[in-house]
Amino acid sequence: MNCDSIILIGPMGSGKSTIGRLLSSRLGINFVDSDREIEARSGANIPWIFDLEGEAGFRDRETAVLAELVEEGRQVIATGGGAIIRAENRELLKNNGQVVYLKTSVEQQLLRTAKDRNRPLLNGPDPEGTLRRLADERRPFYEATAHLTIDTNGQSPRAVVREIIKQLQLKR
Ligand code: S3P
Repeated sequence: MNCDSIILIGPMGSGKSTIGRLLSSRLGINFVDSDREIEARSGANIPWIFDLEGEAGFRDRETAVLAELVEEGRQVIATGGGAIIRAENRELLKNNGQVVYLKTSVEQQLLRTAKDRNRPLLNGPDPEGTLRRLADERRPFYEATAHLTIDTNGQSPRAVVREIIKQLQLKR
């Protein structure tokens, strides 16, 4: 039996939280979302942290939380879209779990993030342009970190979960 955590990476709106929650209940293990853990530990929501501490402050908190979460035993971990920017995070994730990249088109991301005000990076005048730029910058990092890549475009969360379980040969 595999004792590794399953770590979901991918851009904003790729479905990491929905898929992670579903996958964890299929496997009968805990689910944790690094963004929610950052908020719980700091007592502030993400837009607030960006306002007060800038993106750099948020990234420091993110690195610290990820290092803690991988020590907690086998669970499904949903990461934030930018968790793979830092080389030290990429190494940490790769070495401490089975990393699944949820590959998603910018069109799908736009649909899934349209009504959400909790993502400071998308609050500017051109969210589509931002998503395209981030996708170009970050794609190599997602690819370098992932053990498995799943294309989520046009797939239901259930179908993606089935595919992850099959590809990683996971058992309850
Ligand atoms: C970010 C993605 C967000 C959150 C923060 C920054 C990013 O997480 O960590 O707003 O840099 O892509 P989600 O991918 O869960 O939206």
